Amino acid sequence: MTGEPLLDVRDLVVTYAGDAGDAGDAGGAGDVRAVDGVSFAVHAGETVALVGESGCGKTSVAWALMRVMAPAARVGAGSSVTFDGADLFALEERAMRDLRGRKIAMIFQEPASALNPVMKVGAQVAEVALLHGERSKRAAWDKAVAMLDRTGIADAARRAHQYPHELSGGMRQRVLIAMALMMRPALVIADEPTSALDVTVQAQILDLLRDLQRETGMAVLFITHDFGVVAELCSRAIVMRAGKIVEDAPVDEIFHAPKDPYTAELLRAVPRLAADR
Ligand SMILES: Nc1ncnc2c1ncn2[C@@H]1O[C@H](COP(=O)(O)OP(=O)(O)OP(=O)(O)O)[C@@H](O)[C@H]1O
Ligand SMILES: [Mg+2]
Repeated sequence: MTGEPLLDVRDLVVTYAGDAGDAGDAGGAGDVRAVDGVSFAVHAGETVALVGESGCGKTSVAWALMRVMAPAARVGAGSSVTFDGADLFALEERAMRDLRGRKIAMIFQEPASALNPVMKVGAQVAEVALLHGERSKRAAWDKAVAMLDRTGIADAARRAHQYPHELSGGMRQRVLIAMALMMRPALVIADEPTSALDVTVQAQILDLLRDLQRETGMAVLFITHDFGVVAELCSRAIVMRAGKIVEDAPVDEIFHAPKDPYTAELLRAVPRLAADR
């Protein structure tokens, strides 16, 4: 691909401070280097998978990009992330808050814990518009209902008045997708958005994400450890192992001729794909 990427990640390092307090200095011996010099780019409209086994650092990458990090997490001094021309790590928190939700949005793994249990789901979706400049509560509510309807929630006008516990897991995930897409962001980071759902609901949510991606032209960074999902949804895959990128290639190439032995090993672990080959 040519042209300026939408997202350009260079030499990203994320460490978690260990509790080995007796190490004596900052950056002590107990630190975990969860992301260890990761560089990749995502172009506008691209659907890219970030794959790798549990603990390899995928979520740590996502949270660093959103600048919503755990208290123990630190980004390395030499790391840089450019998004839509802006140096993300140099932005004031206020500017970052404006960008988050409006230009980059995230869909989380656990819909139950990502929603506010005591707020109507319609109000939670509407709030995104109100946070980003919509002045009229009525207009924000109407947009929220339209967005909930677009994500396939039947009878959205009535459902909007319900609380998260009144919805199924799949519906809650649709609410989160509605929140993420409310402002038509240029990039959506979806961190294992279906792993908490049953298999049939997973397929519906993946179909929905694919349709919305085609309709809006948004770029998607899809975090998963499921190569089946990668094949279905993504054009390129970045494979991580132990904090580093071991492969970054078009999905077709990865499936037919993985360059990295670790990628080949991950692929062999997918029964359906193995049977297809
Ligand atoms: N808050 C934290 N404090 C300390 N260590 C952490 C923290 N969060 C993650 N880690 C460590 O960082 C490494 C990467 O974790 P991360 O959650 O980014 O992996 P992941 O690829 O998203 O895994 P999964 O597929 O299980 O979600 C792991 O070794 C993990 O134990
Ligand atoms: Mg994770």
